[in-house]
Amino acid sequence: MSPEEHLTRLGFGFAISQSLKAAVDLDIADRLVAGARSAEDLAAECGVHAGALARVLRVLCAEGVFHEEPSGVFGLTAVGDALRAGRGPLDFLRMLNAEPYLAFDKLSHSVRTGEPSFDVVFGLPRFTWLAQNPEAAKAFQAAMVAYGRGVNEAVADAYDFAGCSTVADIGGGHGRLLSAILARNPHLKGILFDLPSGVEEARKGVGGPLPNTSFIAGDFFEGVPAGADVYILKKVIHDWDDEKSVAILTAVRRVLPPHGRVLLAETLVPPGNAFSTIKLIDLTMLAITGGLERTEDEYASLFARAGLSLSRVIPTAAAIQLLEAKDA
Ligand SMILES: C[S@@+](CC[C@H](N)C(=O)[O-])C[C@H]1O[C@@H](n2cnc3c(N)ncnc32)[C@H](O)[C@@H]1O
Repeated sequence: MSPEEHLTRLGFGFAISQSLKAAVDLDIADRLVAGARSAEDLAAECGVHAGALARVLRVLCAEGVFHEEPSGVFGLTAVGDALRAGRGPLDFLRMLNAEPYLAFDKLSHSVRTGEPSFDVVFGLPRFTWLAQNPEAAKAFQAAMVAYGRGVNEAVADAYDFAGCSTVADIGGGHGRLLSAILARNPHLKGILFDLPSGVEEARKGVGGPLPNTSFIAGDFFEGVPAGADVYILKKVIHDWDDEKSVAILTAVRRVLPPHGRVLLAETLVPPGNAFSTIKLIDLTMLAITGGLERTEDEYASLFARAGLSLSRVIPTAAAIQLLEAKDA
């Protein structure tokens, strides 16, 4: 591909992402599980225009999602197979190519101001807007569950809690991570700390059983509960700018016992030019919520500003790392 063709293809990224959305909305991958089918056949079943559907599928064939046979029928590739219901990408793409896609139209606003373009396009911050749009909120939750599949287990497996006695999950939400940690470490006590709404969900058992756990509602900008020797925060710091992140970490450091450990479970932005999904997630955070993903050095500097020091980065079996810190 020439540089000109390469640039043109990049410029048409929107056509590819929206073709994918059309295929997702019509459950095309699930309709091809039993074998390749013609666009006419698929279109009749979906109640859409056969010629238009064939043109969408042709674009996705060129991107490796489907495969057109010489006879003109469309089949699944390994990529298309991953687009079936119950797999992570389907629910994630369904959400991504809806409102976030529209917010990216004003990415230039985010570039100019550092503020989310979502607020300009929709007139409200993302989570306020979601609270008023229950269908979209449901799609968002499904996307988060799909995207995070296996991650809590991977985090719980990756850390050796043998010498610890109480683990506090700060901003622990529904409690899925704490539940996975306690299931693997029956000697541990748990503290689940979140806003009142989060704690309520966890108390109901939404995220799995939480034996030996205290449920504490509060605001981490005002303080976090004492009494744990491990404080874990999963995907909390990436929601906040540096100022607010340092405030949360400082609140944790204030109650950290001398032998205590702070664990951040976050996905690091890798150095270098290679493709990494987290670079796109980071841009999406900029445009949609105002959060940001960080490099290891950036997390080390946040820790230092909060009086903590990064001791090691622990890989997990999922696309998330554990950053362990102690009192500096
Ligand atoms: C991105 S979610 C992460 C939830 C959970 N740790 C996980 O990985 O699924 C951020 C969490 O922080 C909580 N949160 C937001 N603001 C908070 C505050 N001021 N005090 C305590 N928790 C807060 C939210 O309720 C939510 O559960």
